[in-house]
Amino acid sequence: MMAKSARDRRRGSESRSVTSRRTAAAAARARRRRPAAEPRPPGAPEGGWRLHNGAILYPNVRLGRDVVIFPGAVIGRPPMSSGATIRQVSSDRLAPVEIGDRCVIGSNAVIYMGVTIGHHAMVCDTACVREGCEIGNYSLLAMGVTVNYNTRIGERVKVMDNTHLTGNMVIEDDVFIGMLVTSANDNTMGRVGHGTGDWLERGPVVRRFARVGQGSCLLPGVEIGEHAIVGANAVVTRDVPPRALVMGVPARVVRELAAPGA
Ligand SMILES: CC(C)(COP(=O)(O)OP(=O)(O)OC[C@H]1O[C@@H](n2cnc3c(N)ncnc32)[C@H](O)[C@@H]1OP(=O)(O)O)[C@@H](O)C(=O)NCCC(=O)NCCS
Repeated sequence: MMAKSARDRRRGSESRSVTSRRTAAAAARARRRRPAAEPRPPGAPEGGWRLHNGAILYPNVRLGRDVVIFPGAVIGRPPMSSGATIRQVSSDRLAPVEIGDRCVIGSNAVIYMGVTIGHHAMVCDTACVREGCEIGNYSLLAMGVTVNYNTRIGERVKVMDNTHLTGNMVIEDDVFIGMLVTSANDNTMGRVGHGTGDWLERGPVVRRFARVGQGSCLLPGVEIGEHAIVGANAVVTRDVPPRALVMGVPARVVRELAAPGA
C-alpha cells in the first residue's frame, strides 16, 4: 500500500472527526425522539413487565414476568389507621406483595401490603385488595371489587363488578360471584369490639363451583356448599347445602340441583 502524505492523513482525520460529530448529533436526536425508559420497579425481573406511567409501586413488591400495571394503580400500599377504625391495622410483619406471571392490574386498582396473587390473574380497574389476601391463578376481580383483609380466593374464581368480599372470607376454586354481592363478617356490627364475641369476624365460606347470584348478601360465617346456587338478591342467613338452589329473603332451599355432569 502506498504511504499517505501528511496532508492526506490530516484530511482523513478531519473527515473522520466531521463524521463522528454527525453521528453523535444523529444519536442525540434519536435519544430525544425515544421515550424515556421506564424505571424498573424494585423486585421486577429484567424486562417482561410493563409499568404504565402513573402507577406507583411501594418497596417490597415482587413482580413476575409479563405483568402489566395500568396507570394510577398502587401496589404495596401500607395499611394505616387514623384511630378511627375499630380493628387495629399495622404494616408490621406483613409479607411483600407477590404478583405472579402475566397478571394484569387495572387503572387505579389498589393492592395493599402482604397480598399474594398467583399467575394469569386480573385485578381490574379501581378494584381494591386489602392486606393479607391471597388470590389464586387465573382468578378475576372485575371493576370496583373490594376485598377486605385476609380473604383467600382460590383458582379460576370470577368475582363480578362492584362486589364486596368481607374480611376473613374463604372462596374456593372455580366459584362464580355475580355483580353487587355483599358479604359481612360481624353480626354485632362492632358493638362488642373487634375480635371479640361469638362471631370473631367470621367471613362466609364459598365452596368449590358454587354460584352466587347478583345482588345477594352473604351474612357472617355462612357456608355455601359445593355446586350450590344462590339466587339473585337472596339474603343468606344459614348454611346452604351442597348442590342446593336457594332463593329469597331469607334464602330458602327451593330444590336440589342435579349432580354436575349428571
Ligand atoms: C335462581 C335462578 C338461577 C333460578 O333460575 P330458574 O331455576 O330458571 O328459575 P325460574 O326462572 O324458572 O323461576 C322459578 C320461580 O322462582 C322465582 N325466582 C327466580 N329467581 C328468583 C330469585 N332470584 N329470587 C326469588 N324468586 C326467584 C320465579 O319468579 C319463579 O317463581 P314462580 O314459579 O312463582 O313463577 C335465577 O332466577 C337467578 O337468580 N339467577 C341469578 C343470575 C345472576 O345473578 N347472574 C350473575 C350475573 S350474569
